[in-house]
Amino acid sequence: MTATRGFGIDIGGSGIKGALVDLEKGQLIGDRLRIDTPQPATPGAVAEVVAEIVAHFGWDGPVGITLPAVIKKGVAQTAANIDPSWIGTDADALFAKRLGRHVDDVAMLNDADAAGMAEMRFGDPAGRHGVVALLTFGTGIGSAVFHDGKLVPNTEFGHLEVDGHDAEKKAAASVKDNEGLSYPEWAKRVDRYLTVLENLIWPDLFIVGGGVSKKSEKWVPLLDIRTRVVVASLQNNAGIVGAAAAAVEGIEH
Ligand code: BGC
Repeated sequence: MTATRGFGIDIGGSGIKGALVDLEKGQLIGDRLRIDTPQPATPGAVAEVVAEIVAHFGWDGPVGITLPAVIKKGVAQTAANIDPSWIGTDADALFAKRLGRHVDDVAMLNDADAAGMAEMRFGDPAGRHGVVALLTFGTGIGSAVFHDGKLVPNTEFGHLEVDGHDAEKKAAASVKDNEGLSYPEWAKRVDRYLTVLENLIWPDLFIVGGGVSKKSEKWVPLLDIRTRVVVASLQNNAGIVGAAAAAVEGIEH
């Protein structure tokens, strides 16, 4: 029998969020708990917060955990917006040890991949056909690419070089806030970014997510690109939901 409840934790540059998840509906059960990401966000300090969140819910089953990093077989390979000491860290082993679980009961995955998996499973069915790229606009830009609903893990299209710059340094949602850009000004940058990306991978659909997708009416209509754009339906909890599903169903790297 497939489990109907799971537990997911989404580790971000500013907050670490966890919740129980209804895996039939793709929704959180009750409230999520958010704790500020410790600074510096070293593996040890983050593991303490993750343990606190799991203990808060009294959860003793498998746990899915996202990181804003490339993850190969549980090992973090990059660290764009978290402490560099994550690079080379066996995150799977670290969390399994701290949470007192077998490594098979901890699933590690990239945050955008987790959000995308949740979207494929619980979002608009249009996302399950053809080449689909989900992009999360937050502190950085995360990407998850699917072909007929199957993930190609660890794409890092937020780091595409666009006009001589790392794309997320110009078009992440955090840049809009830090530089005080208006929605039209920021939308122009997102438009340029998506144009470069669509000319390279020719997707059938873009799904845009991240906190800023809550205000999608202010910028999505301003995009003038070839590819159809839809807004992620799970928005901010997609990472938690995708992580919980991965812990129960397994992931491929
Ligand atoms: C990281 C990605 C991550 C994205 C969103 C980027 O800086 O390289 O791994 O998915 O931020 O958090």
